[in-house]
Amino acid sequence: MALSLSQKQMSQLDFERFRDLIYKESRIALRPHKKMLVMNRLAKRLRELNMDSYSDYYKYVTSEEGRREELPKMVDAITTNTTQFFREGKQFEFLDTQVWPHLLDPKSGSTAVKIWSSACSTGEEPYSIAISALEAQRHSPGRAVAILASDISDTALRTAREGIYTEDKVNGIPRDLLHKYFLKGAGRVKVKPELQRLIEFAKINLNDPFQRQLRGFDIVFCRNVIIYFDRGTQEELMLKYYEVLRPGGYIFLGHSETLHGMATRFEFIMASVYRKPIGK
Ligand SMILES: C[S@@+](CC[C@H](N)C(=O)[O-])C[C@H]1O[C@@H](n2cnc3c(N)ncnc32)[C@H](O)[C@@H]1O
Repeated sequence: MALSLSQKQMSQLDFERFRDLIYKESRIALRPHKKMLVMNRLAKRLRELNMDSYSDYYKYVTSEEGRREELPKMVDAITTNTTQFFREGKQFEFLDTQVWPHLLDPKSGSTAVKIWSSACSTGEEPYSIAISALEAQRHSPGRAVAILASDISDTALRTAREGIYTEDKVNGIPRDLLHKYFLKGAGRVKVKPELQRLIEFAKINLNDPFQRQLRGFDIVFCRNVIIYFDRGTQEELMLKYYEVLRPGGYIFLGHSETLHGMATRFEFIMASVYRKPIGK
């Protein structure tokens, strides 16, 4: 008799194995009380594979074929992709008033301003940055803007690339910007090509070594992702971000994230915003 999902149990041993595997793959550090969360999030993988037990699923995901075919889907299922357009409004105000006027000025550089939305989830963050950049360029035309948007989750990246959202996701966006940058369909909207043209999407695991081409960013957004990592991983990541930013470049974190007490050379600018010192 097939077991319903609610009847399937995960042994403590399996939970610990999954925790280790998830940590190894993504550095997402799940606390000991997160067994229910892991069970719930992996339940859909078991359902899709028609498997009856978490032990069988663990065996499969660690097999040669499973590592190739299933492991990315397992990590994907575990990630939390909550996001929204213009999240952390104060940071967008700071961008508008303090950052764009200077960065867009041709005297600041001859190439495009480079931004990295490094845990972009389903795309709301990079599209908000693109809108903010295009609006700023109306007042301060000058340098072009190029945005790299990356995430570890294939599913989130698929949505991000498509740029199609239900109306409830965009109801916080001011009406004039909504009309200007989105096409309206039945109960859904699609971002206009002029936003998509500014953004290149890629799958990047933040805990892999950063490729050499990731260099010279003016701003890195690393928002609401380091909360899932342990302290050691956060510190390693900050060293890597330091390297990819140009001197004077900014790093934006989520509102509950801080570098306070961490061994980094970033300068504090305002809550959750830091800067690589100029001349370093
Ligand atoms: C809560 S969302 C934050 C989205 C957006 N930055 C924001 O603040 O609204 C966290 C994102 O981090 C991604 N993530 C988790 N671990 C990651 C890793 N090791 N490398 C890259 N992205 C990761 C998840 O897939 C998820 O989309």
